[in-house]
Amino acid sequence: MSGAQESAAKLPAHIAIIMDGNGRWAQARGLPRTAGHRAGADAVRAVVRECRRLGIPHLTLYAFSSENWNRPKTEISALFGLLLEFLGAEVATMVEQGIRLQVLGDLDGLPLAQRTALRHAMNRTADGKDMTLNLALNYGGRAELVRAARALAAEVAAGGLAPEAITETALADRLDTAGQPDPDLLIRTSGEQRLSNFLLYQCAYSELWFTPVLWPDFGAEELAKALNDYAGRSRRFGKTREQADGC
Ligand code: IPE
Ligand code: IPE
Ligand code: MG
Repeated sequence: MSGAQESAAKLPAHIAIIMDGNGRWAQARGLPRTAGHRAGADAVRAVVRECRRLGIPHLTLYAFSSENWNRPKTEISALFGLLLEFLGAEVATMVEQGIRLQVLGDLDGLPLAQRTALRHAMNRTADGKDMTLNLALNYGGRAELVRAARALAAEVAAGGLAPEAITETALADRLDTAGQPDPDLLIRTSGEQRLSNFLLYQCAYSELWFTPVLWPDFGAEELAKALNDYAGRSRRFGKTREQADGC
């Protein structure tokens, strides 16, 4: 295999990104935090485009955590305003590019205008076959697990499911990511090295990549560095290195 073919073979099927550092990016320029979020939305466009170009089938972006409600009201409404702008400007391109939009998180807890725009965007892009773009919004990994546990309990109580039928797959099927592969690669920008309640179940075996680059400065070049590093990793899933690498 040539070098290029080999790295194509080692492209992740699912990249998940904790987009962090918008506030610090703005602060470093003497700008309000909202200017950082606006620049962050441009980075989202660039990274979605690049992942689509590379043929990455699943991309998940952490856009608003269930804990982000603790931020100042003005910042929260600026973020949700940007979300509406983003959807208004991008849905047609997504349809054209075969990108299917999905939301991870509690959609019902979002303001009405955003909920409506997201439902509309999901409907319009539902037939997209080339890439699934998951936006994690009002998302928390623990809350997602609680929702899945409740769904399973309700099925058991209704007599439709035996407790023994609760397997890892049965649980995964009730998560917001049902039907999608687990992230192969988890990226976090801005130098922070924590999960912040992101995809706690799904990232059990994800490769982690941390970069000091702030999210608004993250683009195709930085993504290439992460992918290059990922391609050289030995993923063992509990096996020995020799077993895992087939040597
Ligand atoms: C990430 O950037 C965007 C969201 C959490 C919505 P931050 O706003 O967390 O930026 P920092 O961490 O304050 O620099
Ligand atoms: C995580 O970033 C959430 C998103 C990127 C949407 P935060 O900036 O909110 O995370 P913490 O609070 O520093 O852990
Ligand atoms: Mg942050």
